[in-house]
Amino acid sequence: MLRRWLASKLAWSLVLGLLAAGTLLTINETGYRQSSRALAEISRAQQARFAVTMLQQNVLDAETGQRGYMLTSEAIYREPYDNAIKQIDLHLARLRELSAGRPLEQQGLANLSNHLSRKLAEMDMSLRLVSSGNEDASRFVLTTDVGREEMVRIREESAKLVKLSNDSLSQAQQQIARSMLLSRVGIALVVAAGLLAFFLYLRQGEALRSANERQQQALQRERNLLEQEVRERTASLAELATHLQDVRETERGFLARELHDELGALLTAAKLDVARLKSRLADAPDAVQRLQHLTELLNSGIALKRRIIEDLRPSSLSNLGLVASLEILGREFSDRSGVRVDMVLENVNLDESRQLSIYRMVQESLTNIGKYAQASEAAVVLKNYDNHVTVEVSDNGKGFDTQFVRPSTHGLAGMRHRVEAAGGKLLIQSSEGTGTRLQAMLPAHAPGSARAPGAS
Ligand SMILES: Nc1ncnc2c1ncn2[C@@H]1O[C@H](COP(=O)(O)OP(=O)(O)O)[C@@H](O)[C@H]1O
Ligand SMILES: [Mg+2]
Repeated sequence: MLRRWLASKLAWSLVLGLLAAGTLLTINETGYRQSSRALAEISRAQQARFAVTMLQQNVLDAETGQRGYMLTSEAIYREPYDNAIKQIDLHLARLRELSAGRPLEQQGLANLSNHLSRKLAEMDMSLRLVSSGNEDASRFVLTTDVGREEMVRIREESAKLVKLSNDSLSQAQQQIARSMLLSRVGIALVVAAGLLAFFLYLRQGEALRSANERQQQALQRERNLLEQEVRERTASLAELATHLQDVRETERGFLARELHDELGALLTAAKLDVARLKSRLADAPDAVQRLQHLTELLNSGIALKRRIIEDLRPSSLSNLGLVASLEILGREFSDRSGVRVDMVLENVNLDESRQLSIYRMVQESLTNIGKYAQASEAAVVLKNYDNHVTVEVSDNGKGFDTQFVRPSTHGLAGMRHRVEAAGGKLLIQSSEGTGTRLQAMLPAHAPGSARAPGAS
């Protein structure tokens, strides 16, 4: 939602920027065209002014030539006249071109041409009279006011034309000045708009970034909360698992004691009774044989009871200590499974629950070796250090992929839980074909508890 709003704002600043660029281009182009036109007009007006000035000059030259010739009758004095006449035609033609499409100038030019024609006709006539030897008539023409008046008109009309050219010139110059002003204002405005667009862009970019940051922070908070919840749940599940393991051990201990005390007493009493009966029935071999059989059955029952009790709660642990219990465990496993078990066991100084943890770990590891490893050899190593002990159970069996342990199995998981609940670490190394190695490190004391002085 917020993002979309910001995106539309960004789009707007982009549109504004494009608009500013478009305006700048238009202003520039218009200014350029107007200035070009004004420059062309300036050039035209200057040429026209020049042509008019030259025309005047030519008329003066022609008049001078005419007078010289009339005074001297020498052909050389006619030359400036003849040259000027040719020039006058050229300049008139040029002026016609330059005044195309300009009625005022065309009108002025027409007037000027009229007066010029008359003046030229007057001069032509006087020269012709001189050529024909009629000098008096020609002087008469000269003394009339006609030539002078035409000359005055020509000057007036020329001045008008020059004024028109000058007006065009100044208009074109004003046009150029206007274009320059327009460009100046336009560029300033566009620069201002560009700066504004840039500022908006920056501000919106900033807003987008801070919105992103807020979103990230919210996500992070949510993640933290979830992690916290997961941690709490995991901790409570771990506590539950520890509790269940404790309950299980307690119940197994209780069951072992009951079996030992009650069933043991019963079986022992029965065995005593059978022994007594046997001594009384010495003369009845048949009965003695049956009693013998019964004694064997009772012995098997007692052995079974002992095995079950040992399995439930290794009495050897409290009676003989961890090292002896592990030796018994290893030996019995070896006898049962045919796997050779090497044992290197150092005496350790641990409380009963840690000893039980190690015992259960070795027990489960050996069971797994018997069930899965197809090993010919196994080793159990227990080492004692200042503050911790390490246990290692390894085999040379087929191994397994530790990444893919079925979720329905709990032996290894329970082992890890036990070790970690006691503040230790369990490392499982195995890969198919290379055997399996389980290493546990257990602190010698419960975390936070001070070492009891002289404890053994
Ligand atoms: N020493 C071993 N050699 C080969 N495979 C083993 C060994 N220990 C455990 N495994 C494999 O790991 C799996 C998980 O073992 P465990 O957690 O003890 O569960 P369970 O014994 O109930 O199957 C076993 O199913 C077996 O495939
Ligand atoms: Mg198992």
